[in-house]
Amino acid sequence: MKKKIIVANWKLNGNTKTISNFLINFKLHVLPYLKYNTIVISPSTIYLERVYNNIQNLNIFLGAQNVDVNIKGSFTGETSILMLKDIGVKYVIIGHSERRFFHNETNEIINKKFDLIKKFNLIPILCIGESQDEKNKNQTKEALKNQLNHIIKHLGIQAFSNSIIAYEPIWSIGTGISADPIYVQKIHQFIKNYIYKNQNDINNIKNLSIQYGGSVNIKNAKNLLEQPDIDGLLVGNSSLIYEDFLKIIKISSDIFKKNNI
Ligand code: PGA
Repeated sequence: MKKKIIVANWKLNGNTKTISNFLINFKLHVLPYLKYNTIVISPSTIYLERVYNNIQNLNIFLGAQNVDVNIKGSFTGETSILMLKDIGVKYVIIGHSERRFFHNETNEIINKKFDLIKKFNLIPILCIGESQDEKNKNQTKEALKNQLNHIIKHLGIQAFSNSIIAYEPIWSIGTGISADPIYVQKIHQFIKNYIYKNQNDINNIKNLSIQYGGSVNIKNAKNLLEQPDIDGLLVGNSSLIYEDFLKIIKISSDIFKKNNI
């Protein structure tokens, strides 16, 4: 079993005090689990460097929650991929439903960002997911295919090498209602089958992970992580409390150890 990737998405939360407290306590306890997981912390842009300075000597990685489509120039208020790379960011979350919804990000924009992240050798975490309405109408697979097709059409299936797809059902994000692990497993299988259509794809697309995100917490993490095609978790609310995030990492470590004896 490969290591699961556990990503904290802090969204628009935290301040210098809460982040310092989190990091002091987190670092104190996380060391025994580092070798069993890939851990990524994604704070708001303004705190990226602060977090990086605290984790750079450990095997914990820095994630950004967004990037602009432009590299440099007159784009007031934006952050470029060069800047993210410059300060130690390794992963960039794109296509999150909150950005699609609140910031009108289209598949075209997300496509451009995906391309840019790959060009600069960082790792995209591409969020895809169905709405409640699409789920009710049995259109989940169509919605996911539509989001993936934009990348496939413009960048080719190869673009998914060294990438992460985060399956995040919109109806589950921040609601406390996590998707059923068996349901998630089936969807992840569907995504993998959609991307790996033949042996050629299996040979060529290396290091693609499919994560789950949506109301992950200390109670449901075990059942989710035990599914063979859930390669990791994207954790929102539960990653803000260091005890909870640590517990999820511990659960993931235990599963890794159990499967690799
Ligand atoms: P949540 O957020 O864990 O608070 O549901 C997950 C996400 O939006 O990535």
